[in-house]
Amino acid sequence: MVEDPKGRLTPGYQRHLFICAHERGPEAKRPCCLTRGGMDLMKRLKNAAKQEGLSGVRVQKSGCLDFCENGISCVVYPEGVWYTLTGEENIPDLLEHLRSGTVAEHLRMNLEE
Ligand code: FES
Repeated sequence: MVEDPKGRLTPGYQRHLFICAHERGPEAKRPCCLTRGGMDLMKRLKNAAKQEGLSGVRVQKSGCLDFCENGISCVVYPEGVWYTLTGEENIPDLLEHLRSGTVAEHLRMNLEE
């Protein structure tokens, strides 16, 4: 049986969070999450989750999630909840979602516009 690098025999996580860190050039017509701090926030959240000892979760950067105007874009599975993030002030709410599944309603992405 094949193990992953963490010794797990089956793939998947209890919760899987992606933060967009896509970069566009200065001439691009659409904004990008990298210049708004997506990569920095992803790294800070990843470290915070590690320090909290959260297991069964994974925090990763993603490419463009296609909601660039609503970024920093973030999605958490299995709930399929989309967030618009602003910076490290969002980390406690994201950690709580990863820990308990509690959705941070005030961070939900507005998909109506
Ligand atoms: S650049 Fe982040 S969602 Fe498109």
